[in-house]
Amino acid sequence: MPSTTRNRSIYLSRKLTDGAMQRLSAAFADVRCGSEHPPSRTELMAGISGVAAAIVTLTERLDAEVIEAAGPQLRVIANVAVGYDNIDVDAAANARITVTNTPGVLDRATADHTFALVLAATRRLVEGDRLIRSAKPWVWGPRMLVGLDLSAGTTLGVLGYGRIGKALARRARAFEMRVLATSRSRQSGTDADGTEYVDRDTLLASSDVVAVLTPLTPATLHLIDAPALARMKHGSYLVNTARGGVVDEAALIDALRSGQLSGAALDVFENEPEVNQNLLNAPNLVLTPHIASAGEGTRDAMGILAIENVVAVLAGRPPLTPVR
Ligand code: GLV
Repeated sequence: MPSTTRNRSIYLSRKLTDGAMQRLSAAFADVRCGSEHPPSRTELMAGISGVAAAIVTLTERLDAEVIEAAGPQLRVIANVAVGYDNIDVDAAANARITVTNTPGVLDRATADHTFALVLAATRRLVEGDRLIRSAKPWVWGPRMLVGLDLSAGTTLGVLGYGRIGKALARRARAFEMRVLATSRSRQSGTDADGTEYVDRDTLLASSDVVAVLTPLTPATLHLIDAPALARMKHGSYLVNTARGGVVDEAALIDALRSGQLSGAALDVFENEPEVNQNLLNAPNLVLTPHIASAGEGTRDAMGILAIENVVAVLAGRPPLTPVR
C-alpha cells in the first residue's frame, strides 16, 4: 500500500500540555484523544484498537493483552516518559511494534526536583512549614529543626548514574558535595569532574544522602530493601525520584522510625497513586506527587518528542529515541 494511504490514526491516552497538543494537531488529523485523567483499562483497550500509533503516559499499563487488543496495524507506542516499565517491551517487539520514550529532555527538570528534595529533607523544610501552619507557639532555638550541612563536605551517592544522575551531580558540586556513583558501565575510577565510581555497598555505606535514579526492572525491584537501608550510614537520608518499586516502603518506614535514616523524600510510590498511611504519618519524610519532570517547557518537550517519534515511524524513518 503506498505510504500516503496508510493508516495514520493516532490514539493519545491523555491530554498533553498546550505546546504538545498544538504539535499533534499540526502533524495528524485523525486523533482519538483521552481526557486529562488516566483511561480505565476498558477505555485504553477501546482507544488503542485499530490505530497506527499510540501516545501514552506512565499511568497506562500496556501489557501483552492490551498490545494484542490494539491489532496488527499498530506500529509505534510512544511513551511520554523516560521510564517505560509500564510497557511490555517484549510483547511489543514480538508484535513488531516500535516503543519509544523521552530521554534527555527531562534531565535538568528532574535533577532540579531531586536536588530540591535533597535540600527539603536535609534542611527540614516541610517540618518547618508544618510547624508554622500548626499555629503552635514557636521561638527560635539553637536546637530547633537542626539538619544536615550539605556544604560541609557531605557526600551524595547517586544510584544509577545516567544523564539525570550527571545533572544531579553538577547541582551537588555547586553545593560543594562529594559525589559517589554506581553505574552499570563503570565500576571504579574517578571522572574529570570528580565523580567517584564505587560499588553499591560502598556507596550506601559512605553517603550522607543517597539519591535513587535507577529505572525499575526486575533487577532493581526493592533494590533498597531492609539490608540495603541497614548498610546506609546511620542518620543519613534517602531520596527517590525514579520509580516507587525500587524502594521497599515498609523497610523505609522502619528505617525512619528507628532513626537509622534521619529523613527521606519520595516523588514516586510503590502503589501509585495510593500512598501508604505509614508514609503519611512519618514526620521526617517529604512527599511530592511524581512531579520531578513537571517543568513547563520540559512537559512540552516530552510530549513533542513522543509525537516526533510517531511522525518518524509513520513516515518510515527510524524513531528518534527507541527504547532498545
Ligand atoms: C517520569 O517519571 C518519567 O519516567 O519520565
